Amino acid sequence: DTAAGIARVYRGSFVHSTRDAALEILNDFVLGVDKSGKITFIEEGKNVDRLAQEQGFNTADVENLGPGEFFMPGMVDTHIHASQYTYMGTALDLPLLQWLNTYTFPVESRYRDLKFARDVYTKVVKRTLRNGTTTACYFATIHTDASLLLGQIADDLGQRALVGKVCMDINPMVPQYKELLDESKDETLRFIRELLQKKYPRVKPVVTPRFAVSCSSSLLDALGEIARSSGLHIQSHISENKEEVELVKQLFPDCLSYTDVYLKHGLLTDKTVMAHGCHLTDEELKIFHKNGASISHCPSSNISLMSGILNVRNVQKHKVKLGLGTDVAGGYSASILDAVRRAIDTSKVLTIEHPQLRPLTFEEVFWLATLGGSEALSLDDRIGNFEVGKDFDALRVNVSVPGGPLDVFPEDVLKVIVEKFLNLGDDRNIVEVYVAGRKVVPFSGKE
Ligand code: GUN
Ligand code: ZN
Repeated sequence: DTAAGIARVYRGSFVHSTRDAALEILNDFVLGVDKSGKITFIEEGKNVDRLAQEQGFNTADVENLGPGEFFMPGMVDTHIHASQYTYMGTALDLPLLQWLNTYTFPVESRYRDLKFARDVYTKVVKRTLRNGTTTACYFATIHTDASLLLGQIADDLGQRALVGKVCMDINPMVPQYKELLDESKDETLRFIRELLQKKYPRVKPVVTPRFAVSCSSSLLDALGEIARSSGLHIQSHISENKEEVELVKQLFPDCLSYTDVYLKHGLLTDKTVMAHGCHLTDEELKIFHKNGASISHCPSSNISLMSGILNVRNVQKHKVKLGLGTDVAGGYSASILDAVRRAIDTSKVLTIEHPQLRPLTFEEVFWLATLGGSEALSLDDRIGNFEVGKDFDALRVNVSVPGGPLDVFPEDVLKVIVEKFLNLGDDRNIVEVYVAGRKVVPFSGKE
């Protein structure tokens, strides 16, 4: 009996991606959400009276969207370093390996201090929620307790999250920021155990070797085994920067490629998401496809750290799952809307040298930001679009907010409005954010 369960009904415009269409425009639809936060129906608005009868709600309780408003699925950030949020927008003058040693490792060392961690993690979860990130795949730091705190804060504030305690047992330039092999294994097991014990409904641990450069073969093996026996997600970095790729070749001479390093250590599964992949070869992409692993495309970071440009068309050709990531703070924006724009821009830059490549369309990047991201995190059975049975993770967008960043005109149809929002919009336009039916933005008073 679904009738008893309806919690909210919305009527107005909805836009989302489907299996067949990167952007489906639904003018005047009604959508019902049940008490557990799941979508129970989405139908044309003219059916509202019949639906009210069948589903047992009162048409007077239907919430009508205003002019200039639409719902879209919440956005998915498939790669973000919560711990690097403090220096977002700065420290962008060095390439990856020097950047890590100079800025990143010293800051990440500070998360032994739980007061510091609480302040930063609260700010980054709030910021990303306001920016419309309903699901985030986080790197924390090597510190177990601070990483657990990030999980608690995401749960408190209502964000869906995968949270990774970072693992690394090699760090020659900043030796105070690393773990011993056994410590990394034991603390990872403790992190997983304690986070799962909390039974947060939407916050889960993810096995997180930082990258092959920072991990011994023994640590990678241990983490592969932990992921295998627990069935958990895995995240790391791969082929971001050419110097890094060369270093990995030297460090793992028995492996055929960077991808082969993760494969050989049991870290390339259908629940693996690898950030960047700018310099992956076709052979490596084939291995990704074969194993069902995905790539997090982080174009802002790739530009800022001068790493490279991912050829998304080639990733698509190899049918490798793909989502968008901000990679805060290699990327200097905590908004997936920024990743959307950079993804389009970098795809256009690639056409200069490769005129046969088609730039990405706004519909395609909309897909990447929502359904693509949820596929990349293997969460597409629960989120990513407005299919009946999925959780209602949604943004209520208003393109006509007073003082907002964009103007619309009478001739602008919804598709144009969505394009303008993707290219010009910001958190001022994201007037409400829902995760599993719960309104998480605006924040409730106690937060
Ligand atoms: N590779 C290993 N660690 C990192 C990190 O923190 N940021 C980025 N962009 N790449 C990495
Ligand atoms: Zn990263």
